[in-house]
Amino acid sequence: MIYFKGTPVLRTNRLNLRKLCMDDTQRAFDHWLSDERISDHRVSPAHKTIAETHKRMEKTVDGYVSKEFCHWGIELKDGSGLIGEIDLYDFDSSTGNCEVSYSIGYDWWNKGYGTEALKAVVEFAFIHMNVHKLSAAHNTDNPASGRIMEKAGMKQEGVIRHMIRNAKDQYKDCAVYGLLREEYLLQREGDV
Ligand SMILES: CC(C)(COP(=O)(O)OP(=O)(O)OC[C@H]1O[C@@H](n2cnc3c(N)ncnc32)[C@H](O)[C@@H]1OP(=O)(O)O)[C@@H](O)C(=O)NCCC(=O)NCCS
Repeated sequence: MIYFKGTPVLRTNRLNLRKLCMDDTQRAFDHWLSDERISDHRVSPAHKTIAETHKRMEKTVDGYVSKEFCHWGIELKDGSGLIGEIDLYDFDSSTGNCEVSYSIGYDWWNKGYGTEALKAVVEFAFIHMNVHKLSAAHNTDNPASGRIMEKAGMKQEGVIRHMIRNAKDQYKDCAVYGLLREEYLLQREGDV
């Protein structure tokens, strides 16, 4: 059984993971939601107008009324602001399983932030929410995403051909990853 706790602040060495707010709209548009270098690896197309981001942000902010909504903005602790977002979704009450997805603005790629955020959310999901299994999938032409899943302890379970069709009508093969709670707890024991 999943214990839903909404979207509490999660702190890591360099990041605060926190709820998004309407004031984040411009920055989210500028740094990842309008950027095709990000959207090419995701299912939703890049936003063309700030109005699209405004609407999406309203939906996200409205979501926080539910304890079953887990969607964090990723903010640098050094005061330089929001750099991306990460969420848990597709909760399945019959299995206790869910999925994770994330985006980091291009300016901050390859600095370890994606891994740091993912590890924090993985810990929250297993330790505080009692999630049974966490899954994610990345396009095979986006190996950086697979790398951060590996660094967060997730295991590749296979490749699904033409699993998604992106906004540019391209079919993409996706590598599917998963991590069981019991595996995560063993990994944690090994880290101590
Ligand atoms: C995937 C993403 C979140 C990674 O964020 P990040 O902050 O750059 O991640 P990190 O810096 O923690 O780690 C990136 C890792 O990928 C590796 N990497 C980067 N480009 C790579 C490539 N072309 N091939 C193989 N590995 C690559 C880096 O070397 C690093 O691994 P290392 O620490 O072992 O050297 C970011 O690239 C992103 O937002 N991409 C677009 C959106 C997206 O793909 N979302 C996920 C959809 S499944």
